[in-house]
Amino acid sequence: MISGAAGDLRYDAPPMNVLGIETSCDETGVALFSTESGLLADALHSQVDLHALYGGVVPEIASRDHLRRLLPLLRQVLDEGGIKRPDAIAYTAGPGLVGALMVGGGMAAGLGLAWDCPVIPVHHMEGHLLAPMLEDEPPAYPFLALLVSGGHTMLIAVRELGDYEILGTTLDDAVGEAFDKTAKLLGLGYPGGPALAALAEEGDECAVAFPRPMLKRPGFDFSFSGLKTAVMIEVRKATERGDYAAQRANIAASFQRAAIDTLVAKSIRAAAQEKLERIVVAGGVGANRLLRTEIATQFQGRVYFPRPAYCTDNGAMIAIAGALRIADAAAVSEIKARARWSLDTLRPPGNN
Ligand code: KG4
Ligand code: ZN
Repeated sequence: MISGAAGDLRYDAPPMNVLGIETSCDETGVALFSTESGLLADALHSQVDLHALYGGVVPEIASRDHLRRLLPLLRQVLDEGGIKRPDAIAYTAGPGLVGALMVGGGMAAGLGLAWDCPVIPVHHMEGHLLAPMLEDEPPAYPFLALLVSGGHTMLIAVRELGDYEILGTTLDDAVGEAFDKTAKLLGLGYPGGPALAALAEEGDECAVAFPRPMLKRPGFDFSFSGLKTAVMIEVRKATERGDYAAQRANIAASFQRAAIDTLVAKSIRAAAQEKLERIVVAGGVGANRLLRTEIATQFQGRVYFPRPAYCTDNGAMIAIAGALRIADAAAVSEIKARARWSLDTLRPPGNN
């Protein structure tokens, strides 16, 4: 058993093992979650090396690699979990790359028919949102969720599982995308977020006064494209001055500080407006160390995060989301794969 959080959560069914399959983008994740004893097994294969050559995710390559990796990962997880077949199968049904989603969805449907067990289509961002439930002290409802990934930047009032009010979202680039694009500008590889955060550690975050986008405006929407342009201008100026090499880490640190300050200030303001005493931070950018320490120190209430490995895409979050949504499980009737799917169209379990 990897994690023992299961005992504190509510499930609408007798004890069961749920298989989770994640293939929405560039990680193949498979995990096995027991509603009685927690995470039994978890396996991940990252495609980063395949896409790094191209500087970003190539959808066709992603689909083909999911196809290649899924069965070996499945075998590994069933062996580690010590079971022959699960009681239910959860798979990411969107949002994501449709070809990649179809590989996971097709696999889930095939296994569901072969094993005669129900399947549960899971919303990828709800998976991220529920990842902290894998930890020893899961958050209670209601809470504010800051979901920050490569494709999304969202502030959500979470009243209960499946009751989501989106308070703010990005008007242009997602924050992870801003990290990735800025990293590219600074000559760092793909995916840039972790590399940029590492370079920032060596720089002075006060060196460049980058804008804190939309911070002074009312409401909870974000915009990161102006910040990206400001970085571009700064890189050009430093190059012209001839001190780009010396300034590179300072630019990275100043960019990171501006982006994180914006996320933290808006989250705290949203929690105050909604009178929420808990904040959950999840999604790939939730692995960022500055974000984790700043929001935890500045917020008066309690902040919950998944461990860094469960901030980025993984099968465990899909397995636990499926376990919590067991009331939505049904015999296979279709394969769902949606490129776009708004989180606030979800309903509590049993109503979808
Ligand atoms: O959630 P995720 O794995 O995939 C999506 O659903 O998009 O998020 C990936 C994003 C990428 O943009 C990546 O650069 C960013 O999360 N990321 C980070 C860090 N680790 C991952 N950004 C900033 N700091 C990090 N430590
Ligand atoms: Zn994700």
